[in-house]
Amino acid sequence: MTMASVPSVPSVPSVNSSAAAAFRRHIDVAPTGVWSAPGRVNLIGEHTDYNGGYVLPFAIDRRTDVAASRRADGIVRVVSLQKPDDVVTADVAGLRPGDRRDWSAYVLGTVWALRDAGLDIGGMDLVVDGGVPVGSGLSSSAALECAVALAATELHDIEISREALARISQRAENDYVGVPCGLMDQMAVSVCRAGHALFFDVRDDVREYEPFAPEESGFALLVIDTRAQHAHSGGEYAARRRSCEAAAARLGVPSLRDISVDQLIDALAELDDEELRKRTRHVVTENARVLTARELLRARKLSELGATLTASHMSLRDDFEVTCPELDLAVDTALNSGALGARMTGGGFGGCAIALVAADAAPVVSSQVEQAFANSGFRPPKIMVPNVADGVLRIA
Ligand code: GLA
Repeated sequence: MTMASVPSVPSVPSVNSSAAAAFRRHIDVAPTGVWSAPGRVNLIGEHTDYNGGYVLPFAIDRRTDVAASRRADGIVRVVSLQKPDDVVTADVAGLRPGDRRDWSAYVLGTVWALRDAGLDIGGMDLVVDGGVPVGSGLSSSAALECAVALAATELHDIEISREALARISQRAENDYVGVPCGLMDQMAVSVCRAGHALFFDVRDDVREYEPFAPEESGFALLVIDTRAQHAHSGGEYAARRRSCEAAAARLGVPSLRDISVDQLIDALAELDDEELRKRTRHVVTENARVLTARELLRARKLSELGATLTASHMSLRDDFEVTCPELDLAVDTALNSGALGARMTGGGFGGCAIALVAADAAPVVSSQVEQAFANSGFRPPKIMVPNVADGVLRIA
């Protein structure tokens, strides 16, 4: 077996950050630093993280920057370039889950979670420049949480691993914002490295970097933002989680991760509920597909990855039932116009699909998808080919 390469820790480039410029305008001095966290795309392994399973995400070069300095008065003051009229202030010692329900909950929730973990975080001025599209399933919330978490800990000279940072950011989202997400997004945003996908075994807490640079072997990974709304907190995501937990309980295992493909037929026979059977079949087969995808990445055989991606979409559509007409149309059209494989990515119910294509086919596949959306009366999709980027880091 090829050993996965372990890329070096990213360096700190110096940049002209618009968050830093805005900080100077708002606060009148330069910030102590600027921290930057990426969005993520999940290559494969969907709705497996909260089942203790495998995921294979990578970070993208759409980033959220946070310019920050400490304050002596115990107040957190947050401004976002995307909501310039909204200046949010709060006393750090008085933060409580549920205080805020808007964008600032991701910031204040992270400060709350850091303090709740026993870390001595005081007042800060924070200026946010969110460059990860919101509501597209590219983890703009995890990017904001992780950028704030790294800024806050470094400003207070607190040494904390990226893994711990990811778990604290997830806690902010689960317990302050109130979204019952798994750990994939925050882990990807925290520890991903350029040119690599992150293989993460959630139950066993194993992380490995697998080479992933489609452009180096003549491919492109299109990210098709369907611009259909997804609503995790709207109940469907939580309902899927509950079904998986119910199935695991009936099968007498801690989580569906503990059922292997070889045990699947027997497990399905034990479940008397068709919905639970479908959810179980998705999770068990999806975990197997992640392992297949990891081997193909290691062997640098992207040309063979397509069928596995497409099988994942079918399973999410038919068994897990988290796709929507826009996602299905994006996938079907990409496949019909030459993509090697395609699938929805993220939580589903809208958001993005990905399509693996030969680089020279990218324009044709993109225009066919745009045409199909126009013919169906859907909003025009936004199609990008992101670079595979580094996780959270200080940039200035
Ligand atoms: C969202 C959640 C993740 C994961 C995916 C589905 O992105 O935040 O934890 O469950 O959905 O794979």
